[in-house]
Amino acid sequence: MEEILAEALAVAAPQRAAGRVADYIPALARVDPDKLGIAFAGADGTVHGAGDCDEPFSIQSISKVFMLALALEKVGVKLWDKVGREPSGDPFNSIVQLEHERGKPRNPLINAGAVVVTDALIGDGPAEAAIDALLALLRGQAGSGNIAVDEEVAASESQTGARNRSLGWFMRSFGNLSNPVEEVLGIYFRQCAVAMSCRQLARAGLFLAFDGRDPVTGRAVCPWHRARRINSVMMLCGHYDNSGEFAFRVGLPGKSGVGGGILAIAPGHGAIAAWSPALNAAGTSAAGAAALEALVERTGWSVFV
Ligand code: DON
Repeated sequence: MEEILAEALAVAAPQRAAGRVADYIPALARVDPDKLGIAFAGADGTVHGAGDCDEPFSIQSISKVFMLALALEKVGVKLWDKVGREPSGDPFNSIVQLEHERGKPRNPLINAGAVVVTDALIGDGPAEAAIDALLALLRGQAGSGNIAVDEEVAASESQTGARNRSLGWFMRSFGNLSNPVEEVLGIYFRQCAVAMSCRQLARAGLFLAFDGRDPVTGRAVCPWHRARRINSVMMLCGHYDNSGEFAFRVGLPGKSGVGGGILAIAPGHGAIAAWSPALNAAGTSAAGAAALEALVERTGWSVFV
């Protein structure tokens, strides 16, 4: 496996020049665009890695997958009254569909949908408990107590977060947010600013490759039917208007983040996290996607094979 991972990175390395580091969040603009890492967590919990697989990066939108699992656990299928599960075909921060669709976002992985999910997870409890729940899930599954919010990244995003606030206020005007916009956005910015390495992220996502159950501890993080559904949403919506291209090239449920990370799930095999900060136009890591494509070509793990 380590050989396959190293080969995948070698194939992907030139693609770093094809992307651009996110600069709309100033703290992310400072990350070295040459970084490149990958890790695979398998059925026995062993994590194999290559390249910069131990370096923490900002998980950004990858947090939306774990928040979705937590919100579904808390409120159940009622969540789908507030957010859809169709691909949007639009950029991650788009507002255009929200007016026609009366403040109900297309899916939980675009920014508007993720804000609704965060609102649902807060519920009528203290907002901070939502971040505590996210960190407990990530730390517990990754087996690393040091996973934390990078408060500098969170503050940087908050200072430049006009678009996300607009989405929040727009949905609030349709009655689709229960908590104060600023409170929900405060949690959303912090969930996005969680820092993790590829090794930690692959291990944390492993339950999604095994019907919601951690294959090592046997703990059910979520029921099998929910894991199946989360994977389907990742496949269809995980890369926004680039989801079709990712399915075509990689064929695995995946979620990108503008920090340059991608979490991909190979059902029955394991979870893979790739990281390289330079992004394509849709906010997916250019080299990260290329590394996953190369890995799938060598392993045959596409769900469409
Ligand atoms: O809300 C934002 O714009 C960022 N915190 C997250 C966006 C993101 O990661 C998009 N994914 N590729």
